[in-house]
Amino acid sequence: MSRIRNISVIAHIDHGKSTLSDRLLELTNTIATLGVHKQFLDKLKVEQERGITVKAVTCSMRYKHKGEEYMINLIDTPGHVDFRAEVIHSLKAGNGCLLLIDAAQGIQAQTVANFYLAFAENLKIIPVLNKIDLPAAEPGKVLEQLEQTFELDPVDALAISAKTGLGVGAILPAIIERVPPPTGSVDENFKCLLIDSWYDNYKGVILLVRVFGGTVQRGDRISSVHTGHKYEVSEVGLMHPDQSPVNRLCAGMVGYVVPSMKRSSESKIGDTFYHVGKPVQALPGFEDAKPMIYVGAFPLDTKEFKRLEDSINNLSLNDRSITVHRDTSTALGQGWRLGFLGSLHLSVFQDRLKDEYGAEVIITTPTVPYQIEYRDGTFGTISNPSEFPDVVTHSSKVLDIREPVVEATMIFPSDYLGSVIELCEACFLLKEQTFLSSSRVLLKYIIPLAQLVEDFFGKLKSSTKGYATLDYEEAGYIPADVLRLSLLINGKSVDALASIVHRSQAERRGREWVKKMRGLVDRQLYEVVIQAAVGNKVVARESISAKRKDVTAKCYGGDVSRKMKLLNKQKEGKKRMRSIGNVQISQEVCTWKPGFL
Ligand code: GTP
Repeated sequence: MSRIRNISVIAHIDHGKSTLSDRLLELTNTIATLGVHKQFLDKLKVEQERGITVKAVTCSMRYKHKGEEYMINLIDTPGHVDFRAEVIHSLKAGNGCLLLIDAAQGIQAQTVANFYLAFAENLKIIPVLNKIDLPAAEPGKVLEQLEQTFELDPVDALAISAKTGLGVGAILPAIIERVPPPTGSVDENFKCLLIDSWYDNYKGVILLVRVFGGTVQRGDRISSVHTGHKYEVSEVGLMHPDQSPVNRLCAGMVGYVVPSMKRSSESKIGDTFYHVGKPVQALPGFEDAKPMIYVGAFPLDTKEFKRLEDSINNLSLNDRSITVHRDTSTALGQGWRLGFLGSLHLSVFQDRLKDEYGAEVIITTPTVPYQIEYRDGTFGTISNPSEFPDVVTHSSKVLDIREPVVEATMIFPSDYLGSVIELCEACFLLKEQTFLSSSRVLLKYIIPLAQLVEDFFGKLKSSTKGYATLDYEEAGYIPADVLRLSLLINGKSVDALASIVHRSQAERRGREWVKKMRGLVDRQLYEVVIQAAVGNKVVARESISAKRKDVTAKCYGGDVSRKMKLLNKQKEGKKRMRSIGNVQISQEVCTWKPGFL
């Protein structure tokens, strides 16, 4: 146990966690040298393409220090706010962390959020300034920020370039010397914390655990504290960096366990496992990941329904935080209602569906969950605009509606303070304003989640010429004066396009909407009227005059085969159209485009 170290790497997005983790794996000969362009730990295609970590990946390394061999379990964590839960569980598994900061960018919003998470877990924090090879690096300034913001002693910081390898050699001895070994004993009853899990086509669900007491080995019967289900262990091992079986996992170790578990939904991150018949107290920190945004998903081609359903189910097997329920839309047919942790989580899901299953899907505008208190004393949560109370039900049956809010932390150069305050002041509540240095400022606002999802980050970026960074955490629910805004095409409501908006913004949003739709709907043989309405009241209207679309007009009558080709092409195009009453609209119209990235 004294020769084990469990440590995570935490940082703001893109500050170099995965690159550093790869360098450490190379230094310990856990993997062969990769070269600059390949990252070992970012395994998913979307991670490599976007250069972001989506799933945390753990790896065990052997390292000789002063003649003794140590095992260092390194946990690479995702930096983006949507994946906060993964960061928290990685931290709970360790006794220390490397807090990585880009020496050219300094402290950013997720640096602050991650620091406080590590601080709350009482971890030994090793500050590491990365990218010191960059000409724009200002290590001196960043050390000042570290001292001012977190009261970290500058002499404790290491300065490195994960890219060139400069200074990286000092990190492993610092981990051994500064991070305490795990506590717990092999003589206690077995208990372990579930940090992550994934689905393997051959072995079923695989659990990544940190053992806090006792030992576990093949043939053991284990049980979950939170579900009560029992399983038989068929294999245990270390991630080195791929699965490598061992005889047993002992207290202090981080490794994998293969239980006889068929469904990923039974593996709840943060759960505690123990030997059947030897119950233990649950380890603290269990929290089920709750979806915060919901969308409708529909096949682009209705014949693809079954295949798409299989792909969605397969993908959600590996990501327990996605919820899936069947849903039907009059405009788009049969589909699903899906729940995600945030908009990045959603757009990563869309990418993976396309990359890994070749499946294209229409995703409707995200909705957050609203809490409804009815006059008869009952409560409900609604996250689908089509189920939202209409104006009549609203006034007769609903007592109160509440919407989720987040506490958003923004960090940016103080030159932009005026424009950020202007952006936030009208609608949001200011909680904190702190100068991190003479030129950088931190603001905290309470912001409705719905507005955050609706591209608040995009607006913040444009108010600060791209310099602002944003982090947020849930901050409960507040009363909200919201209603359903419907979109009608020639009098028919397009349910997939309905949304929930604040009363004060209904008219403006309605006008923006019909204007946008006017540009998206093709001219038809008759006039098309597009309206936005709240209940029976139309708040905005646009119309498109009738016109015959003759695709063969340019053919000058001569070439029959060319004419046929064009007509066929038009037929092809029609496959992607859906009928709303007597109007054909392109399915693309219903598809939400992510604004958060
Ligand atoms: P997320 O997983 O998305 O949170 O990112 P990350 O923190 O893992 O960052 P990653 O390792 O993917 O690095 C982000 C970018 O910075 C990549 O283009 C790296 O090549 C680059 N980078 C990382 N370390 C260094 C460094 O020391 N110097 C320079 N110049 N670039 C670096």
